Amino acid sequence: MTPADSAAAAARAAIRRDSIAKDRDKLYNEALAKIAGRENQPAESVYKNIKIFQGTPAGRLLRIMGQGFDPALGVSCSHCHVVGEYDKEDKPTKQIARDMFAMVTAINTQYLSKIKNLRSPNPVVNCTTCHRGQTRPGAGGGGPPRPAAAPPG
Ligand code: HEC
Ligand code: HEC
Repeated sequence: MTPADSAAAAARAAIRRDSIAKDRDKLYNEALAKIAGRENQPAESVYKNIKIFQGTPAGRLLRIMGQGFDPALGVSCSHCHVVGEYDKEDKPTKQIARDMFAMVTAINTQYLSKIKNLRSPNPVVNCTTCHRGQTRPGAGGGGPPRPAAAPPG
């Protein structure tokens, strides 16, 4: 790749990030408008299919989606949902997100909190710790390139 090629690729990536962020903001605001006046009610009393966020205020659930999951993975709502049909389970990524949330909770409560002599008083991992704006951490999507495997022999 010439320097001009990489500059063009970086510009394309920036445009793509902007358009994803715009889409996400639009869908987030639409979803928030739909529950106007009910933002502080528990998610399960406002929504239809709540398994992991029972007891979380409905407005906070939307913030977790729009300001947590989406930017952590570098996606908009359609990565896990058919837009507007948020209660459905059409996409496997929705259940993966639930399972990832359980994994993160286990790491934080069962492992990280028991490691002694860390610098932070309450260190935690979250979606961004691994994903950093990519859907596939460790699959070549960002970060320094991995060293090539040693040649045979
Ligand atoms: C990484 C996957 C993921 C992304 C991206 C995501 N969501 Fe979700 N969403 C979920 C999961 C998982 C649930 C179910 C939570 C539970 O079971 O408690 C959910 C539930 C919902 C619900 C409740 C629906 C119901 O009636 O049960 C709404 C509304 C919603 N999401 C809106 C959004 C919006 C708006 C966006 C984009 C700003 C978004 N989500 C992005 C994973 C995602
Ligand atoms: C310890 C590291 C780690 C953490 C923390 C983590 N993930 Fe993941 N996530 C992964 C790995 C590894 C994959 C598998 C990537 C692959 O298929 O190559 C993955 C895949 C996913 C996928 C599937 C993406 C796709 O398009 O195939 C979703 C959705 C997801 N994670 C959501 C989340 C959410 C939401 C959180 C925070 C609650 C989270 N993850 C936290 C490591 C992590």
